Amino acid sequence: MDTATLCWYSGLLFGLLPLLLQIIWHWNDLLFLAKLKLRYGLSENSNGGGHRLPPGQMGLPFLGETLRFLWYFKIARRPDDFINSKKQKYGEGIGMYRSHLFGKPTIISCTPASNKFVLQSPDFPLKWITPELLGVKSMFNAEGTQHARIRSFVVDAVNRPDSLRRIANVLHPTVAAALCSWSEKGTIAAYSEIKKMTFKNTCKMFVSIEPGPLFEALDKYFNGTTPGIRAYPLNFPGTALHYALKCRRKLTAVFRREVERRRKGRSEGNHESKDLMDGLMDIEDEEGKHLSDDEVVDNIVSLVIGGYESVTLTSTWALYLLSKSPQVLQKLREENMAVGKRANGDPITFEDISKLKYTAMVVEESIRKANIVSLLCRVAKKDVEYKGFRIPKGWQVLVWIRSLHTDPKYFDDPMSFVPERWDVPVKPSGYQGFGAGPRICAGNMLARLQITVILHHAVLGYKWKLVNPDAKIKYLPHPLPCDGAVMDFAAL
Ligand code: HEM
Repeated sequence: MDTATLCWYSGLLFGLLPLLLQIIWHWNDLLFLAKLKLRYGLSENSNGGGHRLPPGQMGLPFLGETLRFLWYFKIARRPDDFINSKKQKYGEGIGMYRSHLFGKPTIISCTPASNKFVLQSPDFPLKWITPELLGVKSMFNAEGTQHARIRSFVVDAVNRPDSLRRIANVLHPTVAAALCSWSEKGTIAAYSEIKKMTFKNTCKMFVSIEPGPLFEALDKYFNGTTPGIRAYPLNFPGTALHYALKCRRKLTAVFRREVERRRKGRSEGNHESKDLMDGLMDIEDEEGKHLSDDEVVDNIVSLVIGGYESVTLTSTWALYLLSKSPQVLQKLREENMAVGKRANGDPITFEDISKLKYTAMVVEESIRKANIVSLLCRVAKKDVEYKGFRIPKGWQVLVWIRSLHTDPKYFDDPMSFVPERWDVPVKPSGYQGFGAGPRICAGNMLARLQITVILHHAVLGYKWKLVNPDAKIKYLPHPLPCDGAVMDFAAL
């Protein structure tokens, strides 16, 4: 090779190649900034504020930062470092960063104030990839007055003291029986056992369906539907979404038959209001209109989905964390024994539960530490300005609630399980485990009650020990020990 050719190739290698790599690396930034310039022209202050986007990096063409996200969540198993690395690189600033995730231009929000700003604003509605799975007429998909109407009823039915008092009595027998059966087995995978128990309770509370063939069918259909909610939107035989939609149609058919059966009973004069489905059928607005059958069915399905996996995961984490914190477990046991004894062997009442102050702190700390919901997803309905930066219309907005719960600024020693921290009020909005704003969890008190009842029965009668205390943790789709928290479970 002559000198001229060598120079040419060296120039290419040391000049063009790095340039090309830089262009690829910054491709999405260049592309989306150019699109915004075209959309708004060169004026700095067209509606929505300046052109400045929050700091960040939108990554590779098409992929954006998705591989980086997956690396931190799936391979490195250090999910918090995804955001921490941004904080280190760009500073904390306004608490927002730009990115490109799961195929969409994205703004990530990660401080109490910026999260609240997004979650409280009507400019950032919730958009599901496949709304049919939760139900197009469910509270999760409803907006405005329809959302407020359904929400107020559901909150009445599952979250207020009167309803909780009744529900507490429904929970005790199932929990007591399940724990007894675990101790007979000796070794259990806590996640799957708690899931079975929580599903039983949920079916009982919401639709009064007891174990039997119909219950088994529902279990199968719900287990098939749930994974579809976050599945890749590919719908052909063999994909998770295709199967989920098939199971969802079966759920609709089962619950529609149930609604029709109840309507027939009502027309024959048998009107009783014993569960959530009856309650939904009873809703009447100012004009005397009731929910349609589709609305009742969609809300029942979505509430079961919203309620039972979340309680299962958090309760699993509570048992896991307690097994690693003997002193906390001891204090918890003492408090529950005191109340348990006073109730003279009968299951504790809702009033007793409200006296379990330390237990309430353990439940709250479990919810914070478990972080079963890492982030909430919204879409910008229009251009929005936040502290001088633009959130462009149509962009995905990810509210990273997990980053608050693991930040020493809001919780001292955040990675430790310290229920006592709940003895004093948390820093404003530092805790968003149930979300914030108009869509804050409609079942948060029900969730707390269910976890409390499980812990109460567990500490009164049983001891447990993790079989694999160092099992790896998986973080997607939700945090969980990889072995499902296998433990030896025995009567005290
Ligand atoms: C520890 C357990 C639970 C956790 C951590 C949890 C967490 C959350 C979070 C973070 C949201 C906000 C979603 C968003 O803004 O996009 C939410 C909403 C919701 N949750 Fe829960 N949840 C739990 C248990 C339950 C239970 C037991 C129910 C059953 C009734 C329930 C029903 C709902 C409903 C209906 C919404 C939507 C509210 C609306 O759109 O107005 N959740 N939950």
